[in-house]
Amino acid sequence: MTVLIIADLHLDMWTEAGRDPFAGLSAAAWSGIEAVIVAGDLTNKPRIRWKYAIRHLSRYIDPGRVHILPGNHDYYDFKLDGEDRLAEIARSEGAHFLQKSEVVIGNTRLLCCTLWTDFALHGDVAASQAIAKSRMNDYRYIRNAGAGYRRIRPYETAAIHQDHRSWLETRLPQSHLGPTVVVTHHCPHPQLISATPGELDPIYGSDLTGLIQRHQPEAWMFGHTHFQAETVIGRTLLRNVSLGYPDQVLTGQEGQILRRGLIDLQNLE
Ligand SMILES: [Fe+2]
Repeated sequence: MTVLIIADLHLDMWTEAGRDPFAGLSAAAWSGIEAVIVAGDLTNKPRIRWKYAIRHLSRYIDPGRVHILPGNHDYYDFKLDGEDRLAEIARSEGAHFLQKSEVVIGNTRLLCCTLWTDFALHGDVAASQAIAKSRMNDYRYIRNAGAGYRRIRPYETAAIHQDHRSWLETRLPQSHLGPTVVVTHHCPHPQLISATPGELDPIYGSDLTGLIQRHQPEAWMFGHTHFQAETVIGRTLLRNVSLGYPDQVLTGQEGQILRRGLIDLQNLE
């Protein structure tokens, strides 16, 4: 039983570039996929664009088998406190919305949440939050409706990170007869953020090594960094499954990148 876990599709940009990343997988490969888990960044402007993205995916797989976890881009030109609307869009197209959600496929449970970051990677939360506020589009293009539609602030995404992290800490030790896969948008490990460490790293990922070692899920798949890295910690496979922007992917390489997200659940046991 195979699932496709894929992050950073940015389908609006691929459409604009006149390219279809899904054509990189054969019809036989698509027919063997039990479910698609979108691990964030389906499109910008979700109120308008999500439905077209889901319809595009529906050419390859029944939308009832598609589960969408929002990434930071899925809140652009939208609001951080608007997930009920995102869930409604997914539902109206026959797909499923994920946030702090458990999906069971076969006997594998997938624990899915966006995650965000704690800005703590370099030991100076305030400095990293200041960098995020001045340099990251998230804090320009995402609004907080409950606070008068002002731009969101880094302490607000940090609070969501703590909430999502506590949810994982609560869910992971619950007994389950079968493998566990964690799916997040943001990166859970400092060594998988980028090839060259930099001051933006605390905005892309956090160090969740302790949590991973305590609970040892079989796999943790994530995106956001567009950096195709992986490692193993104890018995946990950590893998980035970003597709990326069309200008980051050579024509003909789409299938190779998508196949990084094809997980045979039987192999996890
Ligand atoms: Fe992202």
